[in-house]
Amino acid sequence: MRDHLAVSPGLWLRRWSAIDARSVLTAFADPAMTWQARESIESLDAAERWVAVQSDQWASGAAFAFAVVDGEDTVLGNVTVSAVNRRHATGWVSYWTTQSARGQGVASGACRALARWTFDDVGLFRLELGHRVNNPASCRVALAAGFVSEGIERQKLEYDGMRYDVERHARLATDEEPVLS
Ligand SMILES: CC(C)(COP(=O)(O)OP(=O)(O)OC[C@H]1O[C@@H](n2cnc3c(N)ncnc32)[C@H](O)[C@@H]1OP(=O)(O)O)[C@@H](O)C(=O)NCCC(=O)NCCS
Repeated sequence: MRDHLAVSPGLWLRRWSAIDARSVLTAFADPAMTWQARESIESLDAAERWVAVQSDQWASGAAFAFAVVDGEDTVLGNVTVSAVNRRHATGWVSYWTTQSARGQGVASGACRALARWTFDDVGLFRLELGHRVNNPASCRVALAAGFVSEGIERQKLEYDGMRYDVERHARLATDEEPVLS
């Protein structure tokens, strides 16, 4: 199973490492990241724990998280396949990018590469993801990475006392590779 992948010139996926904790802390300082981790990441300790969890989950096969990095190994984001279910060959995809890396195709390219890797190296068949309907950028990323919309899950998530509709997308191993725009 490869743990270092080329996405496009100057863009790579590699496993998270303990040296990335400070980059993780910086990434989570962005208010848009508030709901992207189970535990709030407001200290270096919490960021170190987050990295350690990614490593443990990789080792157990429960989830596979990659840091998205540029040619200088600067962290630009994260893509993960979690909820890996070997019985049904399914997984759940999620992603985030750092504030300064956004709007350059980083999440779309990384998500596309993650999906290909998950089909080829892990052997999963169906990948799902979901985004709040008020997160159009995430929807664009899903579509660019070949995840077809499968409809709206009404009021699926609750954050800060407010419920949100979620759009479900999925990509199958047999779907055509998305065309790069
Ligand atoms: C969503 C997120 C991952 C996108 O990352 P990114 O690296 O900027 O994504 P890309 O550059 O690959 O693509 C962004 C797309 O969203 C579009 N976009 C950006 N902001 C948008 C907005 N407010 N409304 C509509 N589209 C928007 C861009 O135009 C682009 O679409 P295009 O390729 O068709 O032009 C990033 O904004 C993020 O990390 N947000 C916080 C965490 C998060 O929401 N994660 C997803 C949870 S489901």
